Order: sequence, then C-alpha cells, then structure tokens
Amino acid sequence: MSAFQKNILSKLYQAGLLHDVSAFIPQNKRLSISEKLHISILKEERQVPLLLHQKLSAYIAQECFQIKDPLILNAIECHTTLKKNFNNFDLIIFLADKIAWDQSGTPPYLKDLNNALQDSPRKAALVYIDYLLSHNPLIIHPWLLAAQKQLII
Ligand SMILES: [Fe+2]
Repeated sequence: MSAFQKNILSKLYQAGLLHDVSAFIPQNKRLSISEKLHISILKEERQVPLLLHQKLSAYIAQECFQIKDPLILNAIECHTTLKKNFNNFDLIIFLADKIAWDQSGTPPYLKDLNNALQDSPRKAALVYIDYLLSHNPLIIHPWLLAAQKQLII
C-alpha cells in the first residue's frame, strides 16, 4: 500500500470514528446547542433536529478532537445526507454509514445497494436515496436532493 493510500485510509478511519460523536447530545437539546454554537440551521433541520447531528459531529471533531482536515470534517458534516458537489471521500463515508447502520438487523436496501456497488459507488448511493425517498422520510433534506440530482447526471 502506498503512503498516499495509507494516508487516505487513516483519514477515512478518523471520519468513521467521529461521524456520530455528537450522538451523546440528547435529541431535545440538539437545536438549542446548535444555535448556541452558531451552526447554520436549515428549516428542515429545525423540523427534524436529528438531522443536525452531522453538523454537530463535525463541530465537535474540529473543536474537541482538533481535526483540521477539511476532507474529514466535510465528510462528517454530510454523512447522513450527502450534499451538493460531494467528493469521493464524502461518498465513501456516506455509503459506509448506510451499509453499517445504527439500527438492529440488516438494512432493507442493503442487497440492492451492494449489487449497485459492483457497478459504482454513485449507483449505490442512488439506490439508498431512492429507497429513502420512496419510504416516507420524516423530512427531505435539501442536501440529499442536491446530491441526488448530481448523482443522476
Ligand atoms: Fe449519523
């Protein structure tokens, strides 16, 4: 393995470790804490503060764990929704989050996602997004829609 590959793997590992680090913040405190920290909040995130955990995790990774690398911080910040102009690093963290989800059992979309992954990570991401959008999500995050639009192209 080259030094470059080792470096990227190390960064993926750091993003993987820290992506949900804000999970200790109770659901009913996520909005008020985000406001106090001057994190930008979208209206969809006000409606479903669960969605703020990706931004809060990026904040904690930067301020408490001294992560300065924007590659890592950006991937943490969009690991739930992906976002417009995502890069391959963001895409890997997004897919890893969906493959090893935080609920019990196997994700219902996993087989299709893994099949699509044989073609490309982009197709796999679309499988997940299509699944989510067709199963009455609590809210549709605009970053997810922006990512979907770019994945379709
Ligand atoms: Fe998460």
